Amino acid sequence: MSLPRSELRRVSALAAVVALVVCVGCLLTDHLRWATHRTTEVQALSEAEAAAQQDAASAPALERLVERQTSQSLRLRNRERVLGITAVAAAALLVVATRRPAGTKPPLPATLDRCMPRAPVEPLSDPAETPVDPNRGDDQTAPEVDLIPLREIVDRVGREAHRLIPLLHAVQAEYRYLPPAALDELCYLTEVTPTQLAGVASFYARFRTKPCGKHLVEVCRGTACHVAGADRVLEELKRGLGIAPGDDTDPTGQATVETVGCMGCCNLAPAVSQHGELVANVSVEDLPEIIAHCLDKSKRRSGGYRPFRKKTAAPIESGTPLLEGPSGLPNVVTAGWRAGAHSTLEDYERSGGFAALARCVSALSPEEIIDQIEQSGLRGRGGGGFPTARKWRVVSQQSGEKYVVANGDEGDPGAYMDRSIMESAPAGVLEGMLIAARAIGANRGVVYVRNEYPVAVQRMRETVDQMRSKGYLGKGILGSSLEFDVEVVEGAGAFICGEETALIESVMGRRGTPRSKPPYPAESGLWGRPTLVNNVESLACVPWILRHGASSFAALGTESSKGTKVFSLAGKVRRGGLVEAPMGVTIRQLIEEYGGGVAVGRRFKAVQIGGPSGGCLPAELSDIPIDYDALRQQGAIMGSGGLVVLDDTDCMVDVARYFLEFTQQESCGHCTFCRVGTRKLLDLLERLCAGKGTRRDLSEIESLAVSVAHGSLCGLGKTAPNPVLTTFRHFRDEYEAHLEGRCPAGRCKSLISYHVTQDCVGCTLCAQHCPVAAIEPTPYRQHVIDLDRCTRCDACRTTCPEQAIVTTSPASPRRRKTQPNAA
Ligand SMILES: Cc1cc2nc3c(=O)[nH]c(=O)nc-3n(C[C@H](O)[C@H](O)[C@H](O)COP(=O)(O)O)c2cc1C
Ligand code: SF4
Ligand code: SF4
Ligand code: SF4
Ligand code: FES
Repeated sequence: MSLPRSELRRVSALAAVVALVVCVGCLLTDHLRWATHRTTEVQALSEAEAAAQQDAASAPALERLVERQTSQSLRLRNRERVLGITAVAAAALLVVATRRPAGTKPPLPATLDRCMPRAPVEPLSDPAETPVDPNRGDDQTAPEVDLIPLREIVDRVGREAHRLIPLLHAVQAEYRYLPPAALDELCYLTEVTPTQLAGVASFYARFRTKPCGKHLVEVCRGTACHVAGADRVLEELKRGLGIAPGDDTDPTGQATVETVGCMGCCNLAPAVSQHGELVANVSVEDLPEIIAHCLDKSKRRSGGYRPFRKKTAAPIESGTPLLEGPSGLPNVVTAGWRAGAHSTLEDYERSGGFAALARCVSALSPEEIIDQIEQSGLRGRGGGGFPTARKWRVVSQQSGEKYVVANGDEGDPGAYMDRSIMESAPAGVLEGMLIAARAIGANRGVVYVRNEYPVAVQRMRETVDQMRSKGYLGKGILGSSLEFDVEVVEGAGAFICGEETALIESVMGRRGTPRSKPPYPAESGLWGRPTLVNNVESLACVPWILRHGASSFAALGTESSKGTKVFSLAGKVRRGGLVEAPMGVTIRQLIEEYGGGVAVGRRFKAVQIGGPSGGCLPAELSDIPIDYDALRQQGAIMGSGGLVVLDDTDCMVDVARYFLEFTQQESCGHCTFCRVGTRKLLDLLERLCAGKGTRRDLSEIESLAVSVAHGSLCGLGKTAPNPVLTTFRHFRDEYEAHLEGRCPAGRCKSLISYHVTQDCVGCTLCAQHCPVAAIEPTPYRQHVIDLDRCTRCDACRTTCPEQAIVTTSPASPRRRKTQPNAA
């Protein structure tokens, strides 16, 4: 029978203390005894020596005395040695027994401790039954956090420092936030230091350091959801639940409302999720039901909860249509995809999967594979458009252990093609990785998937397991000498982790802070080894190129941008979804031929392309072909290929403000220009949207945008001003209107008011939907809005069957008058 570790340590510590006390006691006693007898012994020796000198017969007595004293002294010295060694050993045992195994770790740094209130937490097996009071303070008696599950978590996930992010995900899944006691214990059980833990837990947006309410509602704040009114939904939801501004949980701990970057279902915007279940196309009118649900008012007698009335509880991919365009065009990435279903490994094998890999391991040398990729003209689909073969060649020329990383972070709000690729055809990405591994001589790979895509994470993991069991991963792949294995790593809600150097830091369990280049990851990446980082779509193109020939790929697209590209359409387009089209397709073709144009009665105004690094191109430029270089000439970039369509109800100043808010929140804070410059730009745009901007603000925006672009280290800061600069260039009139206190699109809340026109038939619907009772129901009579009460949530306007509610935004006379002097 073995004692538990903590008991063993206690017993050892006790034994060590006893031994130490005994040894020190004996040493002291010996020392005292020696000190007492020393004079007598010395005196006896001198007397014996004197006697021996006078009388030779006394010599044997002297010898006996010397012998006795010598042996006594030797005995004493040996005894001292033994006691000394025993005391040192006992002291060492005491240190070991009382020390934490992870070393001399201090308690959690005060900063983290402060941001994590010591609140009581029950092991929440049934979150729906355990309300949490977020206002609990340190003074309350906090019940113990059950730390038992942590041991299982550490056994399952691993105790190495680079496992920190998966460890924190597992801890959060267990407790629904990161309780300080659990984090303390995590440091104790693993190689993670408190400093590393504090840095990582506070960096990633998906980690909660405060207790979570009984119901968790997540509202998407991505571009497509923003232009569809997510900000109003968020505001009204928090107001309806009684959540104070700046807080995310209501005072009773009933509901927590969080925001998410983008959930990857942008064609269903605005999207909200509750306990991971998606609710699509949410409007302010749907909120009473969601709020009732959160307040448990919709609890059934049976004890269960009624699901939301709104669609869709089905997996997200069934809501992502693959849009049909002109027929006869080959599909490179989406070939064989079935609507609403993902292809299994068997489907993939049946459709010719792994034939390219078989050719690469049996008939092509690594150099020949790279030549094929070069001839195809493939450029990276992750945003920069860097020639893929050039990157592969650099890594192949390096020596030692190498890595292949598939970048599936897809942080661009409004883009969802990478999610669909990972969910629908994960084996294609993995075959691309295997071919890359063969070409560059790598044995290990990582697929980095954002945490907001749980289905993609699951599909990639399942496929990796299946491929391992079928011999496509591991040693001797397809009977060759190729050895390669893959791990799927989940992000934690930091947009910047899509940037390759930040991603590498994240995989190693650290804060996702980009570093300056060179050295490029191709020379020094994961663990300082040469690392090939490619976007998942770039990798998904590779098997097709090797199966159909480089020239077939090169025959598609434009002179400088070859092949096809998967685009995602969202925003004010009639049919949102994915489109695979040859490079060079025009924006107009995508929106009109694939997406069916904008809604009847609306005017297509602009398209936002390339996410926060991209730009807003006006409808007049929608005939330019989409390729890397043509877009760059217009100040935009293709990014990952997400297109958010905007119509005449979208305000371009607000869109620019939205993107700056996004980049400001996502800045890692490393560079002053990015951290402070984007904040300052955001302040200026907020002033404009509030009708408080001046002409001097406009010139400040322009000059600051240039400084931020030049003074930032990584692509996030360098491209952050793009949405502002492109809207400035193409929609200057809207900025001018805001200077007058007008929002021509009727979007900026501070500049608009709602009115009921004579078309009102008095149906009372608007009054029923108004969340603040700003409209009195007066049946069969024209209704009136109390503008002092109105929060401009837009619910009445979208509900009115007669379109009798309009917004107006007249120029403020005061501002018109003050403008000339304002600068
Ligand atoms: C702020 C920022 C975010 C990025 N996000 C992504 C991303 O989500 N997915 C991606 O593949 N590349 C992203 N990139 C580009 C990567 O750094 C890298 O260039 C790319 O993954 C290389 O793959 P490729 O050559 O196949 O395009 C981002 C770059 C920056 C500066
Ligand atoms: S530019 Fe911004 S995101 Fe990039 S390293 Fe600097 S602060 Fe971080
Ligand atoms: S919903 Fe429209 S028609 Fe009905 S009362 Fe309101 S304004 Fe009038
Ligand atoms: S009156 Fe104002 S607050 Fe009420 S529904 Fe209309 S916009 Fe919203
Ligand atoms: S799901 Fe909301 S923008 Fe993508």
